[in-house]
Amino acid sequence: MASRLHAHIGTFRQLEILLALYEGGSVKAAAETLFLTQPTVSMQLKKLSEAIGFPLYQQVGRKLKFTDAGIATVQTARQVLQSCEELDMRLSNLRGLTSGTLRLACATTAKYFIPHLLGPFCERYPGIDIQFTVANRQQVIERFEQGLDDFYVFSHLPQGLAIEVREFMPNDLVAIAPAAHPLTKQKKVSLEEFCQAGFLIREQGSGTRFATETFFKEHDIQPNIKMTIASNEAIIHSVLSGLGVSILSAHTLAFGEIYGVKVVNVESLPIKTKWSFSWLKGQTLSPIAQVFLEYVETEGQAMMHQALKTKQLG
Ligand code: PGA
Repeated sequence: MASRLHAHIGTFRQLEILLALYEGGSVKAAAETLFLTQPTVSMQLKKLSEAIGFPLYQQVGRKLKFTDAGIATVQTARQVLQSCEELDMRLSNLRGLTSGTLRLACATTAKYFIPHLLGPFCERYPGIDIQFTVANRQQVIERFEQGLDDFYVFSHLPQGLAIEVREFMPNDLVAIAPAAHPLTKQKKVSLEEFCQAGFLIREQGSGTRFATETFFKEHDIQPNIKMTIASNEAIIHSVLSGLGVSILSAHTLAFGEIYGVKVVNVESLPIKTKWSFSWLKGQTLSPIAQVFLEYVETEGQAMMHQALKTKQLG
């Protein structure tokens, strides 16, 4: 006999709203994700809670704390939505890639090149929706653990997760200083001299920071760290305003001339790292994800190499 629970479990849209609330951490974030107003989100959550017969969450200070019933409903909502996506996948297979969603998540520095990959892909498959999440590394790892996206893009891959990896393209980390700084006039600068100029470093947990710290350790260098700054753009502006020097991905400098920041020719640099696309081992790639991966590994890679050569991309 069919379960009678489905009669109480709320509508599909309410489950979507609940998931958006859980993942976004607030009514405001859920409303933004789903393009709804906050009162609509609150009202639908109230209706869902009434249908379930339990409170789903409580507001504790500024945070939401989900009840056991709330967590159980979130888990079920995920399963329901996943099943619907699988159905959607099969149907798009039958229709031939004209609709569906591709989900990508990347740590901040990858945002400089991913849109260049997506442009031509979206032109070819105009019916496909793209959900592109740019977040700090820790948030992307959390999405990864929950399997929320088709692909995750990193240069410093997360540790301790069983993952599939496809290396994509180089990510050179270069030394930068204000264009007018004496260091930019020298043919070659020693690593010691560069690092004594007052070093601006990315936040703990950033892939750029990990690569830079590893490099300093390997070269037995103690940089004169002046500031920790959790954003490439803010570092570039700080360098520009004379606060110090830094080492950042060359991709952040695609418009270096405009910013008035120059690459300094420091010995042993650039630090060579690579971008990779990754996903959870065992995760079945949707037809859209498979087509995207093939595109990335063929045309996408060729296009990016060309962009790097012609300096359109750092
Ligand atoms: P970021 O880079 O965390 O420094 O932005 C991403 C990565 O290197 O994985």
